[in-house]
Amino acid sequence: MTPLSACLFDLDGVIVDTAKYHFIAWRQIARELGFVFTEKDNERLKGVSRTRSLEILLEIGGLALPAAEKVDLAAKKNALYLSYVRQMTPAEILPGADAFLMACRAAGYKTALATASRNAAVIIDLLKIAALFDVVVDGNKVTHTKPDPEVFLNCAKELGLAPDACVVFEDAEAGIEAAGAAGMLAVGIGDPGILNKADLVVPGLSELSLEQLRTAWNNKKNNTVAKP
Ligand code: BG6
Ligand code: MG
Repeated sequence: MTPLSACLFDLDGVIVDTAKYHFIAWRQIARELGFVFTEKDNERLKGVSRTRSLEILLEIGGLALPAAEKVDLAAKKNALYLSYVRQMTPAEILPGADAFLMACRAAGYKTALATASRNAAVIIDLLKIAALFDVVVDGNKVTHTKPDPEVFLNCAKELGLAPDACVVFEDAEAGIEAAGAAGMLAVGIGDPGILNKADLVVPGLSELSLEQLRTAWNNKKNNTVAKP
């Protein structure tokens, strides 16, 4: 059986609750464009790039806009988003995330940050979490957005590991799909109703032990438990 060697973490919604800032920034853009954007709609934007998020948003609003206007809107959303993000302190690290990362590292697992965000460097800096990761692959380093597995495959490559030696922690449907496509164990962080393609779902990293993780790993590798 392939041993578990690396833990790959999504950033927004897994390590830090920036998901709420992405949502309120896009909601503001939708409001200015004249339509309502709900939290349910927002699930479709989680994990996907800024450009793709805007396309989905416009689809929800039933709007088709010229390319130049889309560039301006994406920039406007990012400025709004950054105005919230810049206020963040390490206190906004999600409960248990830093402790779980430290436990993974103490157990000898490599750790990586795997995110579609192009703002990852700013966030890592504000939260002072750089030392918790062996590798960072962000939206500036990938061409294909989740559900494409590129971001996770690049992490495995940078760590010098086979994809099937890695586990992914994700709060987005697109991210769970990407982990599956990469051939990695997928741990969903959030609602099991939404993340129903994950191998295991927990409400947050504070509610996950390494023992539970190893059990899920062994079950998947031995093919003993059907997915929920
Ligand atoms: C992902 C978020 O982590 O990053 C998405 O889940 C977001 O909602 C994407 O669109 C890109 O983020 P950024 O910071 O580059 O706009
Ligand atoms: Mg996320």
